[in-house]
Amino acid sequence: KTGYITIDNGFKNTGSTKSSITFLDGELGILRYRGYSIEDLAEKATFLEVSYLLIYGELPTEEQYKEFEYEIRTHTLVNEDMRKVFEGFPVNAHPMGVLSSLVSAMSAFYPDSYDSNAPADTEMHIIRMLAKLPTIATWSYKKSQGHPVNYPNNELDYCSNFLNMMFALPVEKYEVDPVVSKALNKLLILHADHEQNCSTSTVRLVGSSQANIYSSISAGIGALWGPLHGGANQEVIEMLEAIKADGGDTQKYINMAKDKSSGFRLFGFGHRVYKNFDPRARIIKKAADDVLSKLGVNDPVLEIAKTLEQAALEDEYFVSRKLYPNVDFYSGIIYRALGIPTNMFTVMFAIGRLPGWIAQWKEMRENKEPIGRPRQVYTGPTHRDFVSMTDR
Ligand code: SDX
Repeated sequence: KTGYITIDNGFKNTGSTKSSITFLDGELGILRYRGYSIEDLAEKATFLEVSYLLIYGELPTEEQYKEFEYEIRTHTLVNEDMRKVFEGFPVNAHPMGVLSSLVSAMSAFYPDSYDSNAPADTEMHIIRMLAKLPTIATWSYKKSQGHPVNYPNNELDYCSNFLNMMFALPVEKYEVDPVVSKALNKLLILHADHEQNCSTSTVRLVGSSQANIYSSISAGIGALWGPLHGGANQEVIEMLEAIKADGGDTQKYINMAKDKSSGFRLFGFGHRVYKNFDPRARIIKKAADDVLSKLGVNDPVLEIAKTLEQAALEDEYFVSRKLYPNVDFYSGIIYRALGIPTNMFTVMFAIGRLPGWIAQWKEMRENKEPIGRPRQVYTGPTHRDFVSMTDR
């Protein structure tokens, strides 16, 4: 008995679950984590505070925060044999491909994460995932520079530790610039969760089969990599660089994006849910001006981005389709000013989104949600008899 199967390509009008984690209103441009507005959290919280809030549902007390932060600081080291897995990658491997592979490899180093007989100490795997992702995320960059990887330093806070592992060199002292770590903290908070987006839905679907957390997060990283999703932040900078190389001719790219046959999209524009503005894009655009001026960075692509935004917002094609800058449009400009290379931008998105993925995976498991298994409408051939090879 199949009854009616309704197809909803891209799940544009399908709710996959109930969740108490993130609320967003696409018309009003509202985004809240557990009821707290993104504007407040981005200004007043640390990324680990927001991670705690998303995963456990409440902002931590001082005591809870100290313990959580201590647990994370003391689990940042990665099993040395993971380096052997890493060494096998070519130097030009895309950091997202490396990251999703290494996160999946973590399940091999923590077999109690998938052994159904072992006590599924999810708490410990959540801590390990949060603590170790930044460590392994920096390895690709160091290898691309021909530099030795850095070990985590338990004296440093989460953002400073990441920056130190990224940029410290054995030959000179590296001081974390507070402007840089503050900007990173804000960006990570703004990326931390976004209800049932493509990669989060992927994490939930994989986890719904009771697959372990590392395999589920690794699948989420794979989905995020796509240029229509988190991969857009790399595409945006490459697009802005192309416009710059093209004498700043933004109208040419607007026209290309409007011409369907071009196959070109204005990356960083449009959103499935936000139809007036993406509140994160507003905060990031403001932060871009602030961070670049504090760092004394003059990046011509920032002006090109603003010109492009202005031109698109005055163009019928974009206005009629309610296409506005999304979270990916300005974020790369800040990452670049922080010294992060373009091919690491989506890795930064993954580090930010990790607590959201974990919170959603945990909620799905605690709610004992059924395995995800949608149906289809069959459009293939009706029954046919087998034809032997000689008669084909
Ligand atoms: C993220 O879901 C989330 O919450 C995601 C995210 C998160 O935090 O997890 O917010 C992060 O992924 C942000 C989006 C990053 N992607 C990009 O910037 C890539 C460019 N944007 C598009 O590909 C698109 O806007 C999507 C993917 C974001 C949304 O796609 P939809 O909702 O499926 O919309 P669509 O492709 O059906 O587009 C509707 C119309 C189409 O034209 P018509 O068929 O009506 O003539 O708008 C056009 C599209 O061709 N269109 C664009 C466009 N985006 C949509 N035309 C030119 N440039 C664009 N960027």
